[in-house]
Parts: sequence; C-alpha cells; structure tokens
Amino acid sequence: MELKDAIKNRTSIREYENKPVPENKLIDVLEAARLAPSGANRQYWKFVVVRDPQKRQELAKASGGQPHVAQAPVVIASVSTVPDGLMRCGVPGYAVDLAIAVDHMTLAAVDEGLGTCWIGAFSQEAARAALNIPAKYTIVSLLTLGFPKQPGRPKTRKSLEEIICYDTFSE
Ligand SMILES: Cc1cc2nc3c(=O)[nH]c(=O)nc-3n(C[C@H](O)[C@H](O)[C@H](O)COP(=O)(O)O)c2cc1C
Repeated sequence: MELKDAIKNRTSIREYENKPVPENKLIDVLEAARLAPSGANRQYWKFVVVRDPQKRQELAKASGGQPHVAQAPVVIASVSTVPDGLMRCGVPGYAVDLAIAVDHMTLAAVDEGLGTCWIGAFSQEAARAALNIPAKYTIVSLLTLGFPKQPGRPKTRKSLEEIICYDTFSE
C-alpha cells in the first residue's frame, strides 16, 4: 500500500472482529515500531503484547471501561524505560520517541488490513499493575489492534489554511 493511502485510510477503530491477529501480521506491526527513530537512537522502550483476555479486561477497566480495549484481540502497551529528561528544546523526549513508534504501528496495521485505536485515557498505576510493569517505567500508550468490524468515523480535520503558516508564525 502507498504510504499516502495508509495515512488517509487510518482511522481509530473501536469495534473488532472476534478473530485473532495472525502472527506474521503482528510481527510486521511490531517491526514498524522497532524501526522507528528515537532521540540519539536510544530506543529506551519495550512493547508488551497483550492477548490474554483476562489482562485485556483489566486494561479495559484501567481505561475507564472503554469496551474496545477488552474487545480487541491484541492490545500493545508501549513503555518508556527511561521516562525522564527534557530535550534541549524543553520537550520530553521519551513521549515523542514512543509516539513515533506507536504511529508507525498504526500505519503498518492499515497496510496489514488491521485497525488500531490509541488509548491515552488510562490509569498509569492500574495499567502498570495489570502488566507487572515496574513503577520506574511509564506506559505512554495502549494500542488496540485487530480486524475492524466497522470502518472508523470519517476524518474531521482543520484545513491546511488554518494550521500552516509560512516563514513566520501567525495566529
Ligand atoms: C494521544 C491520543 C490519545 C487518545 N486516547 C483515546 C482513548 O483513550 N480512547 C479512544 O477511544 N480514542 C482515543 N484516541 C483516538 C482519538 O480520539 C482519535 O485519534 C481522534 O478523534 C481522530 O480520529 P481518527 O483517529 O479516527 O482519525 C486517542 C488519540 C491520541 C492521538
């Protein structure tokens, strides 16, 4: 699939088929995270692939009862193993590193005919406890993964004119 098409076709999927994700497709999605760039190529990350239904239930509970977290056959917890420090620009590098890796996975998933939904609304403590993740690490994202049952909602986005300026900033 053309990258442009993957970008256009990716939408958040919140209903999944009751069908496992084939191993080769899962590996292709994880490989996209592995190949993502990170600050100074540090790769301070771990990805916990959660398929166990009981654990997915626990993650759904940690996510305020979002049903798609339990329903998706796979949830990938993206974990920063060094969740501190600011880049010289004042921005936390670990969150940026993990966000890039997660976005790579969302696009690779589209290419595999799979759907994803980024879950940011979860209790850090409860999700860590469900997956035995030490308190010194931070889960940046939970990503649901599976075959879409329904297409996502149509994309609503600001126009280019609203968000782009050239050479100097303007409100
Ligand atoms: C950082 C982040 C956190 C998000 N958290 C959630 C969430 O907890 N639950 C959910 O259903 N969707 C969540 N989303 C999905 C957004 O609602 C969705 O990406 C946005 O509405 C645009 O829709 P689209 O992904 O279909 O293009 C999150 C997305 C991002 C990028």
